[in-house]
Amino acid sequence: MGDGYDLVVIGAGPGGYVGAIRAAQLGMRTAIVERDKLGGTCLHYGCIPTKALLHAAEVAELARHAGQVGVRVESVSVDFAAVHRYRERTVSTLHRGVEYLMRKHRIATFAGTARLVGRNRVHVSLNDGSETELETRNVLVATGSRPRSLPWLAVDGDRVLSSDHLVSLQELPARLAVLGAGVIGVEFASAFASLGSQVTVVEILPRVLPGEDEEVSAAVEKALTRRGIRVLTSATLKGVERAGSGLQLSVEKDGKVEVLEADRLLIAVGRAPVTDGLGLEEAGVEVDGQGFVRTEGTYRTTAAGIWAVGDVIHAQPMLAHVASEEAVRAVEDMAGHPTAPLDYDAVPRCTYSNPEVASFGLTEAQARERGYDVRVGRFPFSANGKALILGERDGFVKVVTDAKHGEILGMHLVGPRVTELLPEGILGKSVEATIHELAAAVHAHPTLSEAVHEAALDALGRVVHV
Ligand code: NAI
Repeated sequence: MGDGYDLVVIGAGPGGYVGAIRAAQLGMRTAIVERDKLGGTCLHYGCIPTKALLHAAEVAELARHAGQVGVRVESVSVDFAAVHRYRERTVSTLHRGVEYLMRKHRIATFAGTARLVGRNRVHVSLNDGSETELETRNVLVATGSRPRSLPWLAVDGDRVLSSDHLVSLQELPARLAVLGAGVIGVEFASAFASLGSQVTVVEILPRVLPGEDEEVSAAVEKALTRRGIRVLTSATLKGVERAGSGLQLSVEKDGKVEVLEADRLLIAVGRAPVTDGLGLEEAGVEVDGQGFVRTEGTYRTTAAGIWAVGDVIHAQPMLAHVASEEAVRAVEDMAGHPTAPLDYDAVPRCTYSNPEVASFGLTEAQARERGYDVRVGRFPFSANGKALILGERDGFVKVVTDAKHGEILGMHLVGPRVTELLPEGILGKSVEATIHELAAAVHAHPTLSEAVHEAALDALGRVVHV
């Protein structure tokens, strides 16, 4: 055990390992405990492997449409086992990277399950069967979340799957049903449709990606439908029966029940915090009615010396980059540095489907609800030269501003590579730039980013190319 640690981090996802690195940079003696693999859900089951799948899907689509730019591709087929190997290679390279970073920063890593025993001690049941106790001045809880299911429907990992199962599936399902059209549902529906599955999405609310601006939801639903994905909104899953080697799903929509057949069903109805067995209550850490750890300010829990960040403290946004940034701020707070909680109105939200979705801040409806004198600027990618070159005419940029001073309240994008177009808006928002500065900044031609510029000009009544 040595002389004890300044910080023990529980959970090595993007919250935990980034927090550990920041602590080491600040000269804190740091340990991290992880029962699965360094990198957490994001690296092994979430962000990275799903984006690898989506990239394979994108390449398949490009190959199918190569003829449009005069490149002849004789026949396109997807070798799903090879896609699987590519995904695993990508993950394992990044995994080795995180292991290296822990060594570089002299962060002690413990492979096992941690439990708080009082304020300054963490008990670890190591994966090799032994046990140890770590003494520490501070603790950072970053244990993340796990997929939620429906109370009446067991996820069996065989036909009824969570995203953890689907991402590492070895065989492509011929017919995939997806319950929930949030970020996970839409990304998987998009990827599997491009890889060759017949996909049906069942969403209980009236629109896909219900957290996004309404125009975004409408554009995404249209694009998914055009790609052959069946999207059922305002639809309720009433029952699931095993039939032969597949499933029969009873889905109610508009008062009628339809029976859908599928080989696999993905449950993507949200995620729940992981707090069980952590000893939080005994340590004086309060948890709310939904099981999320309660925090205040820079992520302090109700117990002195214990901070918590990431999915374990939020219903939303459950995002890797949010967890990392919260962890940095929590650790700076521990070290006595001046810091502040994140501004959640300047946090990027990205859905890596085809088409991509990217946004931050308020939707138009939210801005109106908050009483702003809303002025909206829009620009379609169909009028953007680079989008036309890429053959990606769908989608738009929408900026939501306050008419009074031109404050940027939110940006909402659908279309090619839009997840890479958000940072200028985020930076603008964080330095309190207005729509006037965005409109005055020179944007290179021809780039997709010109659509952001033109949307800003549109908000000021000066759009050029429409
Ligand atoms: P979500 O909360 O984004 O979406 C869940 C969807 O399921 C909602 O549309 C909801 O209305 C629907 N739903 C709930 N109960 C239902 C039912 N009984 N029948 C039909 N539909 C139902 O949750 P999701 O997609 O599971 O993602 C979990 C978290 O992971 C989110 O916070 C998300 O932001 C995060 N994530 C982020 C990614 C990214 O940044 N690209 C990728 C994947 C996940």
